[in-house]
Amino acid sequence: MIDEALRVFKEIDSKDFRILTGIETGMKHFEWVPIDELNKYTRLPFEKLEYRLKKLVRNKLVVRTTQPYEGYQIYFEGYDVLALNAFVKRKSISAIGDEVGVGKESVIYEAILPPELAIGEPVPVVIKFHREGRTSFKQIKRVREHLGEREHFSWIYAARLAAQREYGIMVTLYPKVSIPKPFDHNRHAIVMELAKGSLLSKTKLIDPEWYLNEILKQVKITYSLGVIHADLSEYNIFASEDGVQLIDWPQYITPEHPQADEILERDVSNILTHFYRKYGIKRELDETIREVKSQAARSAEDKEEGEEGEESRGGGTAEEWDLVEVLEEEGFEGDIFQEEDLEAEKFEAESFEAEEFETEEFEAEEIEAEVIDTEETEAEETETKDPKAQEFEKAASKKDTLDRN
Ligand SMILES: Nc1ncnc2c1ncn2[C@@H]1O[C@H](COP(=O)(O)OP(=O)(O)OP(=O)(O)O)[C@@H](O)[C@H]1O
Ligand SMILES: [Mg+2]
Repeated sequence: MIDEALRVFKEIDSKDFRILTGIETGMKHFEWVPIDELNKYTRLPFEKLEYRLKKLVRNKLVVRTTQPYEGYQIYFEGYDVLALNAFVKRKSISAIGDEVGVGKESVIYEAILPPELAIGEPVPVVIKFHREGRTSFKQIKRVREHLGEREHFSWIYAARLAAQREYGIMVTLYPKVSIPKPFDHNRHAIVMELAKGSLLSKTKLIDPEWYLNEILKQVKITYSLGVIHADLSEYNIFASEDGVQLIDWPQYITPEHPQADEILERDVSNILTHFYRKYGIKRELDETIREVKSQAARSAEDKEEGEEGEESRGGGTAEEWDLVEVLEEEGFEGDIFQEEDLEAEKFEAESFEAEEFETEEFEAEEIEAEVIDTEETEAEETETKDPKAQEFEKAASKKDTLDRN
């Protein structure tokens, strides 16, 4: 569980992160990343590497095999830790709290976004860690079939693709559609605003008619932007006194999708059924669908007439969907990996040049190596720990304390 990852997060330092990244990148090429490759990638001497790998195995961030050679794979929890570290470094979060939700294909934690320039209030956010590789939806399954020998890498790819799709569409829709504000994305994880109020499924509305209209309004705006949610129900809508917010977007489709009409109908029908069963409100499905579509048609006409206004980004989302197809054809060599690709390229080229900021560390390492010292001391751990990670820890432990009070 991620609780474990959070506990461990406080114990690991920049060298451990380097090892984790090495395994992550190496898994593009190896089912089990050989220790030799990790030695080249991290430039850590074997003894140190072994020691640290043992700790990572013990903390269940990675898994080790000895047959047919000594090699390593990363676990979801190791991947969580890498994403968390990226968020902390980029100051997208300064503390993490409790689990606030768990879906079929994700786990959600509350966290805190520090205020800009340290002025103002910290913003409550959530981190959604995707878990698609574990269960898998149809699209992912098809991708997996094409992975062939790279099967072992599929869960990282699946979860990462889902997070990327979800973040991309959220950025496109926000703020035109009422959704939690998306803040950041790394690997399989997204930082977004904490939704206001509570899930429709868990609340009894005082003025349900008003909320139903609000939801349908959001469905219309979404459709007019060339997007269909495709998993809309009382479990993916928050209601508060301000209105509604739609969550959970990775499976969205565009109206060009072959089953677009059916899927839109299912979305709207789920909502109408909920309001009928819980509040006795009757709305005709066909008529409601017609309204959704006519609004979209009107928006399209407005656009054609060359009216001022923001361009619909629906086309982009269709292309994104196509990305999956393209990746299948190309055998998974697309450019879905962004920042870390730099790392990947380095790994591939086998030019394991240490980055500037690491040089010092490695010099220190050489000196240490002269002293025969395989047991790492507390002092060393503290010294080499990323200052950002320390900052995070401080904030996190402060938050832990607050939570306990
Ligand atoms: N922005 C948010 N703010 C507050 N809670 C959230 C937020 N996003 C998700 N949650 C909580 O986490 C749960 C799971 O999130 P979400 O529906 O996005 O994940 P999922 O794994 O795709 O779910 P599903 O089980 O519907 O497939 C939600 O039901 C909700 O309780
Ligand atoms: Mg959901």
